[in-house]
Amino acid sequence: MSAPPDRLDSAPDLTDSPFPGKWRFVETALAERDRSHRRRHLPDLNPLDAIHVRRQTPQGERTLLNFSANDYLGLAKHPEVIAKAVDYTQRYGTGATASRLVAGSFEIHRALEVQLATALGKEAALLFGTGFQANATILPTLLDRDALVLCDRLIHNSLIQGIRSSGARFVRYPHNDLDALERQLQRHQDKRYSRVMIVSETVFSMDGDRSDVSALVDLSDRYGAILYLDDAHALGVLGPGGMGLAAQQPGVDIVVGTFGKSCGASGAFVACSAVVRDYLVNFCPGVIYTTALPPGIVGAVTAAIGLFPTLEDVRKQLLGEADWLRIQLEAFGYATAGSTSQIVPAIVGPEDETLSLAQHLEAQGCLATAIRPPTVAAGTSRLRFALSACHGRSHLEQLVSALKMARRGPQDRESGT
Ligand SMILES: Cc1ncc(COP(=O)(O)O)c(C=O)c1O
Repeated sequence: MSAPPDRLDSAPDLTDSPFPGKWRFVETALAERDRSHRRRHLPDLNPLDAIHVRRQTPQGERTLLNFSANDYLGLAKHPEVIAKAVDYTQRYGTGATASRLVAGSFEIHRALEVQLATALGKEAALLFGTGFQANATILPTLLDRDALVLCDRLIHNSLIQGIRSSGARFVRYPHNDLDALERQLQRHQDKRYSRVMIVSETVFSMDGDRSDVSALVDLSDRYGAILYLDDAHALGVLGPGGMGLAAQQPGVDIVVGTFGKSCGASGAFVACSAVVRDYLVNFCPGVIYTTALPPGIVGAVTAAIGLFPTLEDVRKQLLGEADWLRIQLEAFGYATAGSTSQIVPAIVGPEDETLSLAQHLEAQGCLATAIRPPTVAAGTSRLRFALSACHGRSHLEQLVSALKMARRGPQDRESGT
């Protein structure tokens, strides 16, 4: 029997390049992903309403109950949000046509920034194309190679990208361990850093637990550090008027919020002092060298932020359902990672088990994507249930009974007992 062909050598080059092997690094990296069963794909689906999607599954094309979207308030299909997106698109066009600094800064951008700054209790706000763009470009603009950053171990990749590209020294403290953070602040107190920054999230995206904002404010005050908080997952759901856990907290220097979650749109903002906003307008490449947010998005976000104060009961119900789901999951023996928000993880552990549980749920009509390394630490693979205010108890019961069936094992499932 002849030896199997060397996959890399026999694979056709990805280009017509006269230099064979020019793209071999791509093949090698993807082959490694295949080997470790971690190759990522972009699954197609069609959203039907706030919580249902249609997609191709091994059982054919099916409608699934979606537990993987971040549209926490169900606003992506809210009539007022859509109407304002259409209205602004008709009045101002489909695109902003230029950077804010050239010819793309419309009155509606400014009005949304004033609306956000007021609702957060800050002097100013500044819009960004996405949350990733905001974190990846604001941080290096505020830091330099002589700065020190102390950040929570579980912060989002966009924050890490921003910190890394600044060249600043950075230390990750154990998740939510503010004693460890204080020890780091003390240890570095007498060193000559250009500045010290603390970076955290308010609600952590993969665990659904919260940081202690008041304690972070206290520490940053006592040690003269800049406090930078990403409020992406609290905005719309928690805090005064649903404006997030960093809202009305004067001690938080920099607040980043995103529009791709509770606002049902896309884009992001930073809320800060007027002088920091001015500094970012002058020095932040993510503001200067990019086209402004499209008018339709500005319309959708303007409407969504306007709706937030009216949705107190909706938030209460959403958080109550999340409590109920956590109780059910814990009764099945799943750890829920200290979650106290609408993001409810069920920690499974091994990657293969997590994948097969996700597949089982899909067969039962529930979409809950398996979250695995490198997104989360090895051994903590999980299903991340992102609840929406549009999930009623019957939807959660469907999820729980599908999980219960998985817990009973394949033989019991087959015999229907
Ligand atoms: C905490 C956090 N910050 C920032 C982002 C990036 O936001 P965007 O999706 O707008 O790029 C995310 C996205 O998942 C996030 O979870």
